[in-house]
Amino acid sequence: MSGVNEIRKGFLDYFAKAEHRVVPSSALVPRNDPTLMFTNAGMVQFKNVFTGVEKRDYVRATTAQKCVRAGGKHNDLDNVGYTARHHTFFEMLGNFSFGDYFKERAIELAWTLITKEFGLPKDKLLVTVYADDDEAHGLWKKIAGFSDDRIIRIGTSDNFWQMGDTGPCGPCSEIFIDQGPALQGGPPGSPDEDGDRFLEFWNLVFMQYEQIEPGNRVPLPRPSIDTGMGLERIAAIMQGVHSNYDTDLFRSLIEAVSHAIGRGPTDDNRASYRVIADHLRASAFLVADGVLPSNEGRGYVLRRIMRRAMRHAELLGARDPLMFKLVPALAREMGQAYPELTRADALITETLKLEETRFRNTLAKGLSILDDASKSLKKGDMFDGETAFTLYDTYGFPLDLTQDALKTRGISVDIASFSDAMERQRAKARESWKGSGDAASEAIWFPLRERLGSTEFLGYETESAEGVVAALIKDGKEVAALKAGDTGQIVLNQTPFYGESGGQVGDTGEMRASGVKIAVTDTQKKQGDLFVHDVKVVEGTVKAGDPLLLEVDHSRRAAIRQNHSATHLLHEALRLVLGDHVAQKGSMVSADRLRFDFSHPKPVTAHELAQVEEIANDIVLQNAPVTTRLMALDDARASGARALFGEKYGDEVRVVAMGEGSGNTLGWSVELCGGTHVKRTGDIGFITGLTDSGVAAGVRRLEAMTGKAARHFVNRELNIARHAAAELKAPLEDMPARITALLDERKKLERELTDAKKKLAMGGGAGASSGAPADIRTVGDIKLMARAVTGIDIKDLKSLADEGKKQIGSGVVALVATSEDGKAGIVVGVTADLTSRFNAVDLVRKASEALGGKGGGGRPDMAQAGGPDGAKAEAALKAVEAALAG
Ligand code: ALA
Repeated sequence: MSGVNEIRKGFLDYFAKAEHRVVPSSALVPRNDPTLMFTNAGMVQFKNVFTGVEKRDYVRATTAQKCVRAGGKHNDLDNVGYTARHHTFFEMLGNFSFGDYFKERAIELAWTLITKEFGLPKDKLLVTVYADDDEAHGLWKKIAGFSDDRIIRIGTSDNFWQMGDTGPCGPCSEIFIDQGPALQGGPPGSPDEDGDRFLEFWNLVFMQYEQIEPGNRVPLPRPSIDTGMGLERIAAIMQGVHSNYDTDLFRSLIEAVSHAIGRGPTDDNRASYRVIADHLRASAFLVADGVLPSNEGRGYVLRRIMRRAMRHAELLGARDPLMFKLVPALAREMGQAYPELTRADALITETLKLEETRFRNTLAKGLSILDDASKSLKKGDMFDGETAFTLYDTYGFPLDLTQDALKTRGISVDIASFSDAMERQRAKARESWKGSGDAASEAIWFPLRERLGSTEFLGYETESAEGVVAALIKDGKEVAALKAGDTGQIVLNQTPFYGESGGQVGDTGEMRASGVKIAVTDTQKKQGDLFVHDVKVVEGTVKAGDPLLLEVDHSRRAAIRQNHSATHLLHEALRLVLGDHVAQKGSMVSADRLRFDFSHPKPVTAHELAQVEEIANDIVLQNAPVTTRLMALDDARASGARALFGEKYGDEVRVVAMGEGSGNTLGWSVELCGGTHVKRTGDIGFITGLTDSGVAAGVRRLEAMTGKAARHFVNRELNIARHAAAELKAPLEDMPARITALLDERKKLERELTDAKKKLAMGGGAGASSGAPADIRTVGDIKLMARAVTGIDIKDLKSLADEGKKQIGSGVVALVATSEDGKAGIVVGVTADLTSRFNAVDLVRKASEALGGKGGGGRPDMAQAGGPDGAKAEAALKAVEAALAG
């Protein structure tokens, strides 16, 4: 057992057999420690388990943990490549006891593993214990049979593990191997302990305290064990090589570098091969864990690592992007143990290629400036900080890249003048901002952004994390604290809360600490990338500098994700159904619905909507993975990715692809998008309830629902339909025909009813008239039929009057109908033989006056009028009679 992969497996198997839970490595971006840039030890993911805050269903664990020590407190970047053992990325093997076994069992387990399983020579091994740790001293004596001179007492902080200023801690016992007198160096604690001869490879930490604050250390409730063994180191020892870079894994990677360059390392350029191999691992693993190159925070550490490697590739003569070609070799070596490498393969490859391509544009020019400016310098001299700043600012050379380039010649960089130049540039930005006239309400954000830098967004990878309060705002002013009942804003150093942008609403959720509860009601982005949380403090007081546990409202975010991914699918489906002119004009993605505005000249028909829905849901059913890449804006556009109208994009953009089966190799739908998305299209559930409406000339609005909301919507509609079917006592599928038949029947009945009423009214039967005289009387020589009728529509009066004229042969007919709201309508008909004597229009006007109305119109033989007072029907008829009487 001596290959790196076998050693890793051997370690985990050994502890699994000893009843340890094999726990996967946690991500390189720590979720539970806001002060830590990268996971830098195996115990990081168990921090809260040691202190008892968090409970797990096991008390013993073992891991192979991915670690990065670059940037932040533990920074090995400068040394990488030039020493046998420094790495930016490494693996730490560990076993852990959470209040279960303690020193004795830990030492027994370690001793058996290294001497029996790993077969290290007992006589070459020695250990340290903390100066006053007699117990550990005695145990090593008993278990390993060591003489006193091989148990070295060391009382410095080197031999006491502390993760940070606070947290679980305890004395160490480190295990060393003597690699023989051929190498320089003395045993631990001796003046020349830094030499290579005595090599520390395993640190057993006896966690027995918790550091509450400086000077205040309390015993842990239950003493625990945390150990850390560098996999690269133990592999070097077991493989009998003196450099980690000569182990099988690194040999393969360096082989791949040699292959890509076209020749292997020589003594002069070996460091460059090592830098590339090491930085490839760090870059690939960081990208796989969601870190993407940027100009700040973790992203900038990654960028520095990548660019440093690229300069070394350039030194080796590479003229084209190189790093991305090495990804398959890395996946071959480490992909089995870390499947995320394979999963994120495309993202890693494209991110590396993009960064290399971009940096190549300025690298050669920057290097020639660097050469010119340093030509006359000699060992011990200082390189001009202004030039270093120009290289940084214009040519994208991180400061440490410039330092690295000059290091072998013994030249340092004038950091003070570099910082001055940087400060001058900031002052200029401040000035130009002051002149830009931003609203006063926004005035607070510029200086805050400048002071605090951007907020690191963790929300693509996680919805819960810890963050430290960087600033608190109340009523537009920065304050020291917010207390229960206060509303205000909180800015953190990092956050999983999505800030509203790209049509996607901001996240809500909760922030907590002991005795503190804060409701997050919205999240906005200010000055581009400063995340501002709108909060209401529910309980306790929160101060700047406090760590908080941040919890996004998970179910709300899940629904938002579904709606956002569905919006992409609908966009593409609309384009397919309606045509290429469909361009996004805006969108709004919230938890309960999605809205998508697009250019299209006319309403979308029901048939088109059905087609769009069908197509989009077919992609949902594919359950294809949704992938995200970082690409150069131009490349993204060239790849056919669709952009949001009016959105400002940076040079580098996130490209979200989903679904299969179109001309685009990236995916069925490919869009520039900074939003959060489902992992697979199937996670959308389904898309339904599509509606179309108009918002402006040539702009339509599509609305739809997904997931749970879609299910509730459909169930509701179905329940209504079922209920209606039950009322009709018809099977659901017969409903439409049944309803049409019912409506036809109703129309027919209405017609019959009207006819019957007319007949009744004209026949003078009881119930049809209101008891008004139904007689035909004679006024002078004129026959007058005068009736007040009810139950008759005013619009039917004319046909009734015609009827009346026929009945009397010669004469005048006056009919008043009162409607349900109390108003009246009157029709007067004059038979043709009498129109020379009486004009129907004159008569009807008289009647109308009696009804409280005026006007009326028609022809001499038939006229109509209305009036507000139906109670005066009788008076109206009398008025006609009076007019005839003349
Ligand atoms: N946490 C200990 C270390 O990293 C094991 O050395």
